[in-house]
Amino acid sequence: MVRTAEIDAAKGTVHLQRFTVAYEYPVCFTECLFDPGNPLLTEVLGRLEPERRHRCVAFVDDGVLEARPGLVDELAGYARHHAARMELVAPPFPVPGGERVKNELFFIEQMQQRLFEHRIDRHSYVIALGGGAVLDAVGLVAATTHRGVRLIRVPTTVLAQDDSGVGVKNGVNLYGVKNFCGTFAPPFAVLNDLDLLTPLAERDKIAGMAEAVKVALIRDGEFFAWLERHADDLITFERPALAAMIRRCAELHMRQIAHGGDPFETGSARPLDYGHWSAHKLESLTKHHVRHGEAVAIGIALDARYSVLAGLLAEGQDGRICALLEHLGFRLWHPALEAGRPDGSLALFEGLREFREHLGGELTVTLLEDVGRGIEVHEIDEGRMRAALRWLKDRVETP
Ligand SMILES: NC(=O)c1ccc[n+]([C@@H]2O[C@H](COP(=O)([O-])OP(=O)(O)OC[C@H]3O[C@@H](n4cnc5c(N)ncnc54)[C@H](O)[C@@H]3O)[C@@H](O)[C@H]2O)c1
Ligand SMILES: [Zn+2]
Repeated sequence: MVRTAEIDAAKGTVHLQRFTVAYEYPVCFTECLFDPGNPLLTEVLGRLEPERRHRCVAFVDDGVLEARPGLVDELAGYARHHAARMELVAPPFPVPGGERVKNELFFIEQMQQRLFEHRIDRHSYVIALGGGAVLDAVGLVAATTHRGVRLIRVPTTVLAQDDSGVGVKNGVNLYGVKNFCGTFAPPFAVLNDLDLLTPLAERDKIAGMAEAVKVALIRDGEFFAWLERHADDLITFERPALAAMIRRCAELHMRQIAHGGDPFETGSARPLDYGHWSAHKLESLTKHHVRHGEAVAIGIALDARYSVLAGLLAEGQDGRICALLEHLGFRLWHPALEAGRPDGSLALFEGLREFREHLGGELTVTLLEDVGRGIEVHEIDEGRMRAALRWLKDRVETP
């Protein structure tokens, strides 16, 4: 490391620029967000300037609109009711739901054009309503328009409410690499409405539970045991169990971001990305036919077995982890895990390189030393990982 004094001597005077910026955003849990009687949205809009009439543009996931066509009118009705405090400058714009919106820069430009046409400035609001993919794409638009306009996230999937929506990242996919283009940009506020999850497909409700299992495994063994005890309620989407799972999972993610010491991931570690090096690769290998949460469930199982083979985790805990994931409805195998390259290597292992490159620095993969306690390692043995893959395949395919 070059010390300031050395630069000083070599090049003349150096002024070391340094400042700190504190971030703060509310993450709210509510029901019936767009019921005119629910003041939450207007309160959040007016958090900094309570007397002003705030200009807003809304982008809505078309999957949500299909499942709940009345939502556009509800939002417009809410804005009319609260016209003294908010102005919806145009009817909500639908955007393609799911990974489609992250795979084409065209959609980013189209959204940016809307903000230009409606003269959205840095004190106006972009309201993003949708799953994790739409929030990621709209988040990038908001973060880069005028170098950052205020973003209110309204997550509409379990995964977006318990993980992606409460965090500080956005991004889209480029060159076949997940989240190749994106920024760290904390939102202005996050509004989690349990009712918005009602029309979500079963598959997507389940997918979001993988992130709860993940964060429990690396941070909170007691939460993992809670998930085991409540698995029956979770698979039937019992409201109290689902609400409690989302809340605890969101809290654990927020705690890591606020207190983990590296909210913008400048180091080499991504502690919240346990099970993700293979998950991201599996998503691209399957051209996103496997959902993020589904791929994460497989990644969790694979790295749990690897942790046992590496002598870090007690034998049997891998089976326990797989049993919970299977109980929740995950299938822990996909043929793409075995896709080969011409040189005989597994395409999956490119995921390790991409994982390292995404951060820079040293390869850092989180494994498990106990249920509830993650441990970082800097090397993955491919032979051992192949053995973990065989174990997983046998487990799923042997009746
Ligand atoms: N930024 C982050 O920190 C972060 C963290 C984790 C995941 N992610 C990203 O999140 C994305 C996955 O998000 P996801 O799991 O929320 O799924 P998704 O956004 O891909 O949505 C899945 C499907 O559900 C539909 N949908 C969304 N809400 C609905 C509702 N209420 N009713 C009916 N249909 C609805 C969508 O249209 C889509 O077809 C991935 O791109 C992943 O990379 C980002
Ligand atoms: Zn994830």
